[in-house]
Amino acid sequence: MPKVAEKMNGNTKWFLTVALLLFFVFLFPTQVIAHSILEKAYPEPNVNYPSSPSEIVLAFNERMENGLFYIKTYDGGGKALNTQPAEISKDQKELHQLLPKLPDGIYTVSYRIISADGHPIENSYIFTVGQAGDLTIKNAANVYVSKVGISQNDWLYWITRICYYFLLLSLTGWIMWYHFLHFETVEWRRGYHHAAKLLLMLYLIASIDSMLLQFSRLLTGFGIDQFTVILKTSAGISWLLTFLLIVPGYFILLKHKLVDGLWVVSMLAAKSINGHAMGSKHPLFTVLMDVTHLFAASVWAGGLLYILLYWRKQRMGVIHFLPVFSKAALISIITLTVTGTISTLIFLPNLQDILFTDWGLLLLAKIFIIFLVVASAGLLRFFMKKKMARRFAFWLKADFSLMASIVGIVGVLTVLNPVPQNQPVIWSESRDNIAVKLTITPNMPGMNHFIVEAKTNQSIKIKNVELKIKSKTNEIGPIQVPLSTDRLTGEQLLYACDGPFLPFAGVWASEIRVMDVDDNETVFIKDFTIH
Ligand code: HEM
Repeated sequence: MPKVAEKMNGNTKWFLTVALLLFFVFLFPTQVIAHSILEKAYPEPNVNYPSSPSEIVLAFNERMENGLFYIKTYDGGGKALNTQPAEISKDQKELHQLLPKLPDGIYTVSYRIISADGHPIENSYIFTVGQAGDLTIKNAANVYVSKVGISQNDWLYWITRICYYFLLLSLTGWIMWYHFLHFETVEWRRGYHHAAKLLLMLYLIASIDSMLLQFSRLLTGFGIDQFTVILKTSAGISWLLTFLLIVPGYFILLKHKLVDGLWVVSMLAAKSINGHAMGSKHPLFTVLMDVTHLFAASVWAGGLLYILLYWRKQRMGVIHFLPVFSKAALISIITLTVTGTISTLIFLPNLQDILFTDWGLLLLAKIFIIFLVVASAGLLRFFMKKKMARRFAFWLKADFSLMASIVGIVGVLTVLNPVPQNQPVIWSESRDNIAVKLTITPNMPGMNHFIVEAKTNQSIKIKNVELKIKSKTNEIGPIQVPLSTDRLTGEQLLYACDGPFLPFAGVWASEIRVMDVDDNETVFIKDFTIH
């Protein structure tokens, strides 16, 4: 009985550790955003046009998938305008749609695209024509922030992704290790074959589940007749290849070393074309890095799973396997570190941005866990040499839990956007009976709208308001933003200007100087960042 209690305790602790780590993984992301970002829009969001714009142009920072995109424009009554379908530019970064002549009114532009890394992006914004009124940009919402439809609470989605990754690594690792193992009995070999078939079946189920979840998100807003278009996207091709490999896998695997090797690499390559690696500027290189990363991860995960499953039943066989695995695990951790670092540097040209996204923070959490893995691997080697079986078993479970939590992180990380999105600056401050509000939209390098609102009580009369922008990253003098006072509303002064006064990314300081009629000056300073 005490033995049972002891065993129960050990297992409970083990499961609790994994559950706790996964819990933190789920707790972490507050916002799920995918890779493509709307950089420019015409007609511009929240702007009043004196006459009808002739077309809609939406420009994104990344290539998008051809086929599954739309722009829909609605009039003030919520009725969709009768327009030709939007067209995609040659470089697949811009959408164009001709507009009919629009009467005065309020219009809503709604768009949906699939970014090259397989994530759907959608958002809507408003513009007005003629007498419909000046929306002014002072309350500009985050129209440039693209949204994807996954919420933090979408447990089925996250669990499916994590199971999918766990099974992909376990299955491919299991197939690879087969050729390096020595089976002393027929039953043992047969058991290994059965386990391979079981993993293949579970992987098939996880793949069908993941594919359906991804396709249902990609097809939102399109008719089911667009299903065939999905098959032309890299996500569609990836799933097609995955199933084309799984089915013959039942018959051809665990027979020839070369066939198994080719199958594993093809399966990992099929996965790699569905994700961030495809969205980079050098997809061939990043996919190659990703395949190598996945290969190294599967060597580690597959070997660890084998040791854990056979530790009780085939202790001697596992003990013989340990020195081989120990070397392979070391090489695979080194390979993971090298390929993972290269991919990080490609996905994130400004490494300091790692601190500004959930993607970056989760990656740091993953790297921290890898340090724990290295420490636990050291202990495992020590206990293996000293032949301390019980301690070895404990650290083995710890190592496996750490692997599971890395896979948990990966399941979430791979959906997040590595690059931080710029947020409009919307900032207010009151001092000395003067209240100012600064709005900069969209707050990207290049053209921006600048608005300064200044409000005072009756006793102070404002003579002038100035806005200067200073770079805190580069040694350049302050840039004067030529505000015009033509938008005057009652007691409140509204100064506005459009122009390229934020020429590059970096940290900037805005300086608002409010001068009253007695030449008293009040200065307001606000720092902000452009990524
Ligand atoms: C210092 C070490 C590591 C670094 C810097 C690193 C970095 C990365 C990066 C940047 C990605 C791409 C994420 C994305 O697509 O958004 C990635 C993906 C991944 N990593 Fe790592 N990683 C490391 C170690 C590991 C380890 C130890 C494992 C073992 C389980 C692992 C498993 C994976 C998997 C399964 C993916 C998903 C690849 C895909 O979806 O195609 N990584 N890693």
